[in-house]
Amino acid sequence: ADPGGLSRDILDWYDRQARDMPWRTGPADRAAGVRPDPYRVWLSEVMLQQTTVAAVTDYFQRFTARWPRVEDLAAAEDADVMAEWAGLGYYARARNLLKCARVVAQELDGTFPDSYEALLKLPGIGPYTAAAIASIAFDRPETVLDGNVERVMARLHDIHEPLPGSKPLLKDRAAELTPEVRPGCYAQAVMDLGATICTPKSPACGICPWREPCAARIAGTAPELPKKTPK
Ligand code: ADE
Repeated sequence: ADPGGLSRDILDWYDRQARDMPWRTGPADRAAGVRPDPYRVWLSEVMLQQTTVAAVTDYFQRFTARWPRVEDLAAAEDADVMAEWAGLGYYARARNLLKCARVVAQELDGTFPDSYEALLKLPGIGPYTAAAIASIAFDRPETVLDGNVERVMARLHDIHEPLPGSKPLLKDRAAELTPEVRPGCYAQAVMDLGATICTPKSPACGICPWREPCAARIAGTAPELPKKTPK
């Protein structure tokens, strides 16, 4: 579903520029098609729900050092998990994290489900997180739509309809581009593009792997997009 080869261009860029994060596999594993551990993908995506990559990294390292597998986290004392979570905020996330770990450990033999629909049923996993885990951990071609991806899609297609009304349209555009090949790398590539190049202010269009097809760059509207309906 990507006639123009846009996903190939961003995957090439990702292979050269991927940010190193402790829940990602390294370049050699990526090239060999080795997928990251679903437990680590799940933990990172829950931590990243309302928190930046920079803030999450140390917490992620401490959690995985102390509880290396989902069974370890499931067996932890609630108070110990809440104490390690302190500072990340949104404490309902930590309570759902434990609930989810216990469901996976006790009811699913410690194995995370590998489909969007099954992931969505677990505590603390909404549409964004289910799509992220299905694509990153299991290479399912699900459409991952977060704020970064919305901005990139609005600009690539020069969509002026404001958020949140434009969400379904942006999701359709994102779905059209999601490749069958390496969808997990693709999802993280678009997130990295939004975080490092296609930034809200002063996007670095000159070094963007999508500079040529980008309709907003051609129209000169990239910095204004996406538009938002005033609250
Ligand atoms: N934000 C949420 N998940 C992410 C990921 N896997 N990589 C980069 N940024 C993210």
